[in-house]
Amino acid sequence: MADFVKVATVDEIAVGEILPLTVHHRDIVICRTADGFFAVADECPHDSSPIALGHVDGHEVVCPRHGARFDLATGDVTAPPAVVGIETYEVKVESNDIFVKLN
Ligand code: FES
Repeated sequence: MADFVKVATVDEIAVGEILPLTVHHRDIVICRTADGFFAVADECPHDSSPIALGHVDGHEVVCPRHGARFDLATGDVTAPPAVVGIETYEVKVESNDIFVKLN
């Protein structure tokens, strides 16, 4: 069973920013929206572009390569060309610390 791992602090990521990280040999990104922090894989399921080079738009993250969009809360595709959702990870914030639970 996976445990939460501290990956960053709240003040490292402004609203609208993406922070790339490697946690336990896995490349992920932490995205901050007006609603909080979300963690997804740093690899677009369409053609493997690094999501870290994309941008946050509202509650979505946009792939820099062909513009696919993913809902940060669910990982679901919200705009093509991707047809498969992006992997998401559970996030919790305690005080100033951000924790992610890898599956
Ligand atoms: S690689 Fe992300 S949309 Fe094509």
